[in-house]
Amino acid sequence: MSVLTNKHILLGVTGSIAAYKAADLASKLTQAGAQVDVILSAAAEKFVTPLTFQSVTGRRAYNDADLWGNEAHVIHVGLGHKADLLVIAPCTANTIAKLAHGQADTLLTVTALAAHCPLMIAPAMDGGMYDHPATQENLDTLRKRGATVIEPAAGHLASGLVGVGRLPETHELLGHIRLALGHTGVLADKRVVVTAGGTQEPLDPVRVLTNRSSGKQGYALAQAALDAGAQVTLITTPTMLTPPVGAQVIQVETAKQMLAAVLKEAEGADALIMAAAVADFRPKNAAKDKIKKEGGIPQIEFEATEDILKTVSASGFGEAGRRPRVVAGFAAESQSLLENATNKLKSKGLDMIAANDISARDAGFAVETNRITLLFKDGRRESLSLMSKAEVAEIIIERIAALLE
Ligand code: CTP
Repeated sequence: MSVLTNKHILLGVTGSIAAYKAADLASKLTQAGAQVDVILSAAAEKFVTPLTFQSVTGRRAYNDADLWGNEAHVIHVGLGHKADLLVIAPCTANTIAKLAHGQADTLLTVTALAAHCPLMIAPAMDGGMYDHPATQENLDTLRKRGATVIEPAAGHLASGLVGVGRLPETHELLGHIRLALGHTGVLADKRVVVTAGGTQEPLDPVRVLTNRSSGKQGYALAQAALDAGAQVTLITTPTMLTPPVGAQVIQVETAKQMLAAVLKEAEGADALIMAAAVADFRPKNAAKDKIKKEGGIPQIEFEATEDILKTVSASGFGEAGRRPRVVAGFAAESQSLLENATNKLKSKGLDMIAANDISARDAGFAVETNRITLLFKDGRRESLSLMSKAEVAEIIIERIAALLE
């Protein structure tokens, strides 16, 4: 169950060339389990058709013809009342003006006026219309009334001009929608710190020692914590992934930098989840200049890195000695999974550890799925079947929320 499962999203689409991107948004929302009802403005229908949206949502899409049909009352009141969120993407300057002034002359604007749910708008427009004081004042009015305004992106506009006015990419819109739906979740008002990725320890200015961690499980945990309403700090090494919308992101490379970031961010947090694969050893003296072939095979001396979890769990952590209320780690093992994980749970002073067998091809590093056993401080064990890293993350977040209760 994701934060989008069975949620009613009312998607308003207005007359911008970006209307074609709204079909992708409607499709992704539907795939994530949401029920998406679409209302097109007359101008939107110049770019896309109700059939476009019906085809991706599997539900009837509405237009202004429905405003005057037999079901008009049922539609505008009904759609507005059952929605969990009204998203207007793309939202033109014209529709923004109408919303700001309570005009209700189209099915979309009359529904927006009748709706009780939160309003989110993603302005998209060309030629400096976004910067115009009229648009900005209308947006301020809407913000003051509680609407969420997603800032348009800068870049190439349909006219050929370059400026602010592009509809953000679908994944970003989805991230904002998840944030809006999740803010009353089980971790509302909680602060969660997640680490992700594999640390990189420099050998010389061009080479690093790292590991196969992709960061996927950590990023999925950050997203699941956001979905549950938490305020999330994601401490991450360089990865190929896009951080979830709404997370405060702190970039680090080495184990030492990660330790410093964790000590700063985790103090007084409600939960710390160490999903990062942290190097246990680093080259004692990274070469100042590039190590050259002519010098022969280099002899590299290693030294141990600090154990981040042990440092955090130790008494007296932080200036005020405020260890996060729940500290969770991962145990990546290729043998004696449960025995090693139990030892780590104890020696690192954890409340919970997620043990995964990295020798399996469908679990662990760099794949989309994971097979995990959760071990708790009180001796409880829970074996999860093979599932996506997003599903694993949701379960871990639920268990952390239960420990925080
Ligand atoms: N970890 C940590 N600091 C380190 C190394 C690991 O905080 N210097 C954390 C990891 O983020 C993970 C847990 O400890 O949550 C276990 O990491 P893992 O690599 O499985 O274990 P290690 O303690 O490194 O032991 P070993 O490599 O010998 O199995």
